Amino acid sequence: MAARNLIDVDDVSPAELVALLDRAATYSETSPGRDLLAGVPVLNLFFESSTRTATSFTLAEQRVGADVISFAPGASSLGKGETIADTAITLHAIGVRIIVVRHPESGFPRRLAESFDGHIVNAGDGTHAHPTQAMLDLMTLRNEFGSFTGLRVAIVGDILHSRVARSNIVGMRMLGIDVTLVGPRTLLPDSFEAPGVRIERDLDAVLPEVNAVMMLRIQRERIVSGLLPSLDDYTRRFQLNRDRLRRLRHDAVILHPGPYNRGIELTDDVLEDPRSRYVVQVHNGVFVRMAVLAFLAAPAYAA
Ligand code: CP
Repeated sequence: MAARNLIDVDDVSPAELVALLDRAATYSETSPGRDLLAGVPVLNLFFESSTRTATSFTLAEQRVGADVISFAPGASSLGKGETIADTAITLHAIGVRIIVVRHPESGFPRRLAESFDGHIVNAGDGTHAHPTQAMLDLMTLRNEFGSFTGLRVAIVGDILHSRVARSNIVGMRMLGIDVTLVGPRTLLPDSFEAPGVRIERDLDAVLPEVNAVMMLRIQRERIVSGLLPSLDDYTRRFQLNRDRLRRLRHDAVILHPGPYNRGIELTDDVLEDPRSRYVVQVHNGVFVRMAVLAFLAAPAYAA
């Protein structure tokens, strides 16, 4: 049987996704110990900068006993013209069994997986997918609300360029969460509408209706590229700030994948608000990543 990969959330079934979140919750209370992946060589291959994902994968790998290899891809022979396929074959021959990869190009992890005889874990590729981020967001939501039944979540901002939004939409729909996407037409085309996925342009109208609001980072280059007229216009319509916090339910939570831009998609008031769960999200990331590694490669794992 071919080795399993995690390129996006739907590489696991809904039942496997729930089991994986259960496993992550268990690990958050009791460490599985270093025998779980003892001696399994795991390579972290980050072609793009990362604070949260790279650090928490490394910690997760160490906590399950893997042999962790962190490699600066600038030093790889891809730069000398070695193909992705040859790189994958070479890394497996050396002994690597799991590659955790981040790359600015959408589809790079999939291409690596085509020639790699171990497991590929996507740590974020271009605008395509970021499955472990979505899973840690789902873990945070379930911890908060106890289940996914009846949950309504708004995702706000640059949906078009967001791998976090794409993977969350996939995962939330697998679990029956009702998703509302909010943003300007240039960053949220009507084509995102789907069963269970609604598009709204008026954030003020959406905030009182949802159990959670996920704010996305706005990149300044969207102004330069003409997708936004100005940051002032964006913040006026879509920034979560003190005034808009009053519209949010008292029992709702605020998520952000990080890194956030203070003063653009949110203000300091939001980060200081008791409903903000950013710190919980990053904390949960380690347990979700331990569970993903165990799911893919631990012989004793039973989903
Ligand atoms: N959320 C996230 O992917 O953050 P990093 O880019 O720091 O890994």
